[in-house]
Parts: sequence; C-alpha cells; structure tokens
Amino acid sequence: MEPDAHLSPVTPIDPPADYPTHLDREEVLADGTRIRIRPIVPADIERLRHAFAVGDPESIRRRFFTGAPPTGEVYLRYLVEIDYHRRLALVAMDMEGNSLGVARYEGVQAFPLAEIAIVVTPEWRHRGVALMLVEALELPAIDAGFERFEALYLPDNRAIADLLEGLGYGDLKLNDGFVSVTKHLS
Ligand SMILES: CC(C)(COP(=O)(O)OP(=O)(O)OC[C@H]1O[C@@H](n2cnc3c(N)ncnc32)[C@H](O)[C@@H]1OP(=O)(O)O)[C@@H](O)C(=O)NCCC(=O)NCCS
Repeated sequence: MEPDAHLSPVTPIDPPADYPTHLDREEVLADGTRIRIRPIVPADIERLRHAFAVGDPESIRRRFFTGAPPTGEVYLRYLVEIDYHRRLALVAMDMEGNSLGVARYEGVQAFPLAEIAIVVTPEWRHRGVALMLVEALELPAIDAGFERFEALYLPDNRAIADLLEGLGYGDLKLNDGFVSVTKHLS
C-alpha cells in the first residue's frame, strides 16, 4: 500500500480521555521486524478513508462482506471513535508509521460476546501481523469483562480460518453464507 504515515500522527496528539496508553507499544515479528501497535484514535479517520480508497476489492470483500468499500462519513467515524472498552481497535504500523493492518473487537449486542474483525495490507501478509493483532485484542477484552470472541468470515477465506484455528477458535458454524467460530477468553 502507498505510505500513509503523513495522514495522522504515529503518537496521538491530544488523544481521547480514555485512550489506553498501555496498549501502545512496539512488537517484533517472527522475522525480527519491529512494528508498532497502538489503539486507533479519531485522527486516524484519514488513514481509513485512504485505505478504502486505494484498497484492493478482494480484501474489502473479505473484511466487510461487500464489494464496495465503506465511504459514509458516519460509518468512518464509527470505526475510529471508540470507547476502548466495549469497542477497541488496534492499528499496526511499520517503524515509519505507515499502517499495516487493523484489528478490532466490538461487543455491541451480545455481551459478554464480542465480534472480532481484522485486515492486513497485502504486502505485509504471511509475516504474523494478523496473529499478533488478534492476540493483542484478548487481554483488553478480558479486562473489559468479555468472555468470548466470535469471528465471521466467508467460507473460502482459508487464511483467516487457519489463523483462528491455530489460535484456538472452534465451534464452527455455517449460517447465511458466513462461517462463524468462537473462542472462550481466559
Ligand atoms: C486474513 C488476514 C488478516 C491474515 O493476515 P496475515 O497478517 O497474513 O496473517 P498472519 O501472517 O498473522 O497469519 C497467517 C498465517 O499464520 C498461520 N497461523 C495460524 N495460526 C497460527 C498460530 N497459532 N501460530 C502461528 N501461525 C499461525 C496461518 O496458517 C497463516 O500461514 P501463512 O501466512 O503461512 O499462509 C489477511 O489475509 C487479510 O487481511 N485478509 C483480508 C481481510 C480478511 O479476510 N479478514 C478476515 C475476516 S474479518
């Protein structure tokens, strides 16, 4: 993907009051590459707008289950304005601050169950970024009182199926053309 570090600060300036600073950190991938993971902030709306404008349709279809990327201002704001508790999103960046992927959980309906979603930019796949991001959601979710994660994906999505199986997700169900798997958090 094109560089996007210029679209919002890597270290948030004037983040929301509930911004969980302790979730902002550096990590090291299995190949030794350092990356930064931090919670999303409202200023990142420009990163999302850019990602949806230039993103490949297949990634968007697999993430949002629709051919068209989300563009509505209200929805974009919904994605970046979170309470870091019932809803959390983590952005992975390279050390120059360019976005590599986003993972989120949302516990908006069936508490203590939260739904997760993840996307990693194609150039950075198969390096463990998604694995790291999805695992990073677990402790904050437990702290927020969640007991289970659920993931929905399209039946042909081998990458996420293998990743989640490796992370202990199970109880696979097929409903309305989507696969769902769940994991008990502990
Ligand atoms: C699915 C997606 C997020 C995976 O991203 P990724 O960064 O390539 O994933 P990772 O490198 O962390 O993990 C995938 C690999 O880890 C493997 N893996 C699974 N469980 C593992 C575990 N416990 N430990 C180590 N590796 C594991 C997978 O088999 C896979 O192997 P491969 O990369 O050699 O094929 C990415 O393909 C994507 O963004 N797709 C489009 C959006 C989408 O499909 N989202 C899911 C629905 S919300």
